[in-house]
Amino acid sequence: MMANQERIEQHIELLSRFTSTPGRGVTRLTYSKEDLQARTYIKEKMIEYDLEVTEDGFGNIFGKLEGILPDRPSVIVGSHFDSVPNGGAYDGTAGVVVGLEIAALFKENEIQPAYPLEIIALVEEEGSRFGGGLMGSRGMMGILSEEDFKELADKDGILAEEAMLSIGLDPSKRKVRNPETIRAFLELHIEQGPILEEKVIQVGIVEAIVGLTQLEVTVKGQAGHAGTTPMNRRSDALVSAAQIIGDLPELATSIGEGAVITTGRLNVYPNGANVIPEKVNFTVDIRAGKEEHVLDAVRRTKERIAAQQKKGIHISVEEMLYIQPKFLDKNIRSILKETSDSLEITNCNMQSGAGHDAMVLSDFTACGMVFIPSKDGLSHCPEEWSDASDLAAGTNILFETVRRLMEEESS
Ligand code: GLV
Ligand code: MN
Ligand code: MN
Repeated sequence: MMANQERIEQHIELLSRFTSTPGRGVTRLTYSKEDLQARTYIKEKMIEYDLEVTEDGFGNIFGKLEGILPDRPSVIVGSHFDSVPNGGAYDGTAGVVVGLEIAALFKENEIQPAYPLEIIALVEEEGSRFGGGLMGSRGMMGILSEEDFKELADKDGILAEEAMLSIGLDPSKRKVRNPETIRAFLELHIEQGPILEEKVIQVGIVEAIVGLTQLEVTVKGQAGHAGTTPMNRRSDALVSAAQIIGDLPELATSIGEGAVITTGRLNVYPNGANVIPEKVNFTVDIRAGKEEHVLDAVRRTKERIAAQQKKGIHISVEEMLYIQPKFLDKNIRSILKETSDSLEITNCNMQSGAGHDAMVLSDFTACGMVFIPSKDGLSHCPEEWSDASDLAAGTNILFETVRRLMEEESS
């Protein structure tokens, strides 16, 4: 009853074609044409593996195999299927594909589970289109309010609801899920860092996920002529932004203990070579293993921002996402460890520096995560790559763990 490596490889390959940047990595923004293509593929495979397919009012996809026992909560396996701009073929997708493969194993082996099995494919984990991140999981667990969702718009001002409608999704469908319908959530993900590869270990069992926050900073100045405005008469939004951003690496280093701060997106308006920038907005992504360090970094970032407020320059800060560090379920971690050992798959405990949907679900249900090695530690780039044999090994661990969780509950 072992995972089919070729089938896994094929899912990854086919899904990687649904990108708006062919030849330059996977760019699959939520509710885009490529989202619809990937969604159609995932739903077709779910049907092929005898799952009953539904979508919620965010467009999260659920494929369910009913359990024999009535009204039991589901064991859920999956991840997200959106990507960052010019990202790779594995981040998120790997976890969805592993879910599909687990469903295929249930079908091929004619296993009728005692409890329902659900495979999920979540939207907008990366926040690449609507900001913040973890939207699908936050929405589904009711911690993104309907009002906040209705206000979400992309950089072109297209509302999330409009974008949903444009690919045939229905935002009026049920959005929030009762946590009592979930027994556990399991997510396989690529490591996105170098540790497993360096140590030559096949899987990492995630103990904890870093706390993270994302700020959206808007600096407003005054546009003007680049040739005729004297240097002492300018309110240049980009110069102020650059001064803030330039301080952030040193700030992160001074906090230490693995705290990291990144500005990954910056937009300049009107973005003309001979126009003094009138407005700049940029993101500040802050992460640390300890919540006190995240809070310290936020406070000190805001101090740096306040120091740039002056006549002619106005700066505002919006918190797009705040999520505490999370520990994953101890019982599931030990089952993952036991199944890895019994399958003779080398393993170790790990901390996650990346955010994951499991960190949202862990407030509502028992969660477990397995990492597999990333080649050269690279992720969020076209070079992202993981070995299908590691994906198959991870699938076997999760498959056994799913079955154990179903037994445990029924005994
Ligand atoms: C998701 O990849 C994140 O950690 O931002
Ligand atoms: Mn990612
Ligand atoms: Mn991811």
